[in-house]
Formats: sequence, structure tokens, C-alpha cells
Amino acid sequence: VSGNLRLTGTDASQDIRHIVLDFGNTAFPVLEGQSIGIIPPGADAGGKPHAMRLYSVASPRNGERPGYNNVALTVKRVTEDHEGKPALGICSNYVCDLQKGDQVQVCGPYGTNFLMPNHPGSSIMMICTGTGSAPMRAMTERRRRRMGLNEGGELMLFFGARAPAELPYFGPLNKLPKDLIDINFAFSRVPGQPKQYVQDKLRERHEEVFRLLTVADTYIYICGLKGMERGVDEAFRDICRMHGQDWDKLLPTLKQQSRYHVETY
Ligand code: FAD
Ligand code: A2P
Repeated sequence: VSGNLRLTGTDASQDIRHIVLDFGNTAFPVLEGQSIGIIPPGADAGGKPHAMRLYSVASPRNGERPGYNNVALTVKRVTEDHEGKPALGICSNYVCDLQKGDQVQVCGPYGTNFLMPNHPGSSIMMICTGTGSAPMRAMTERRRRRMGLNEGGELMLFFGARAPAELPYFGPLNKLPKDLIDINFAFSRVPGQPKQYVQDKLRERHEEVFRLLTVADTYIYICGLKGMERGVDEAFRDICRMHGQDWDKLLPTLKQQSRYHVETY
């Protein structure tokens, strides 16, 4: 472990961390969009070793620090179950408590479906909530590092979080060049403001979203909460209808061409 930094504000309800793992002399090549497995130490109630948990790689292929053999992760400390009842997540608490210099058991990398397009001119539409931002950060940083090559293509990001202080990478995202990426935040729990989800922002930006959806070189990535998949699908259907297109015809084409990718958990 070469770094563990809290990403969410001190007043935030969630503890999300930027963890950097250094592989030293061991080759461990990863691509943006892949995940790695972490095996927490110890055993479960039945005495069996804990199962590994997957975490998306949040850094580009040439390392969190370019040229270094390291990988960043974005990990949320799980303190409640999906119904909101208190539950201490075994692996996420272990990872969030790691200290610089600790050793971690890692396996992988995993994933062949969520990979970013590699060719010049390709555009990427990224839609995420919470730690679903990890692969989007990796892809954006890959593109940022290659900006000088003028390869073309657009980046458009829709990012949902409870509030700005709960949004991982809020500060760094706001500092990205405006001509690199078109960023749209959706906040659901800001006092005095209406609740917004990523699908509401997609509808607000329907002109641009429709243009990108129907450009042959756009690749779409959706990552985060399980529930978002349906809402995003409905938003795309509405946007297509507004512009006289049939989403049920467009979606299979996008999938067939490997241009529509969903990873929810
Ligand atoms: P457990 O001990 O396994 O579960 C404790 C309780 O928490 C259970 O009741 C369970 O229902 C509930 N729970 C499980 N997961 C969540 C969750 N995500 N939110 C709220 N409650 C939950 N997590 C990240 O933080 N960052 C990532 O980048 C990331 N990438 C993933 C990529 C993939 C492809 C997949 C499948 C999962 C990813 N996860 C990510 C989730 C991660 O693998 C673990 O499931 C999560 O950290 C919880 O593990 P745990 O051992 O702490 O909880
Ligand atoms: P909410 O305030 O309703 O929970 P989390 O912080 O739990 O990881 O969630 C990240 C963001 O995703 C929050 O703003 C959360 O809103 C929002 N969210 C919850 N359910 C959905 C959904 N079905 N579709 C899109 N966004 C969602």
C-alpha cells in the first residue's frame, strides 16, 4: 500500500477512499475498465478463508503515477446493508483501514467487457454513481494524458452523488480542462435543492446526448448502483422518442457493436 487518502469531505456521510497499491517488481498489467480482486485476511464464521471482492481500477494503464507499477482504487466503506440496516462490510472496511506499507493479497485483473475504445476519434459517454466513478476516472485520465496527441473524440460525464462533499474526485474533476470533458453532476441530497439523479441530467442535456448516442464512434459506460441501470435506460428511451428515434432498435445495435457497457453492483 503506497497511499490511502479520504476522498469524501469530513462532513460527508460516507467514507470513500483513494487507495494506491504498488506492485514493486511484480508485473501486474491492468487496463482502464478492469477490476482487481482483494482477499481480506482471516476466515468467515464457518472457518473458510474470506472470498475475494472486486474493485474497479481507477488509474490509467500506465499507472496512477505514470511509469510506476501502481494502481489506484476507489473504495467505499460499507457500514450498512442494501436495506440501510447497520452492517460492517468485511473487505471494504479492511481496505479503508489500510496503512501505507501494509501488504495486501490481490488477484486478477478481471474484466473484458468494460474496456475503453483505443482508437483515435472515439467518443465516450460515462454515466456513474458513487464508486462507479472509478473506471470513469481511469478512462478520463488516460485521455487527459494523451491530450497533446490531438486524437479527437469527446468525453461526456454524468456523475450522481448525494452532495458535492460525498462525490469522490470532485475537486480534481472540476479542474479538468473544459475542452477535454463535458461534466454534469446530479446531486440528490443538497438541502433546499430538488433531488436529481443522473437520468434527470441526461434528459436536461438531451440534445447533446442524442447527438452523441447516434454518432457511430461513441461508446457508452454505465457504472455504479444496481438501480441506476433501469433509470438510465428509460432516459435514453425518452430522449430517442423526443428526437424521433426508437431506443429499442438503437440499443441492440450499440450492444452488437460493443458500444454499450454496464457494470452495476
Ligand atoms: P460484505 O461483508 O460482503 O457485505 C456486508 C453487507 O453490505 C451485506 O449486507 C451486503 O448486502 C452489503 N453490501 C455489499 N456491497 C455493498 C455496496 N457496494 N454498497 C452498500 N452495501 C453493500 N466497491 C467499491 O467500493 N469500489 C469499487 O470500485 C467497486 N468495484 C466493483 C466492481 C465490480 C465488478 C463488482 C462486482 C463490485 C465492485 N465493488 C466496488 C463492490 C465490492 O466488490 C464489495 O462488494 C463491497 O466493497 C462490499 O464488500 P464488503 O466485504 O465490505 O461487504
Ligand atoms: P439517493 O440520495 O436517493 O440515495 P450512494 O451515495 O448511495 O452510493 O448513491 C450515489 C447516488 O446515486 C446518490 O445520489 C443516490 O441518491 C443516487 N441513486 C440512488 N438510486 C438511484 C437510481 N435508481 N438511479 C440513479 N441514481 C440513484
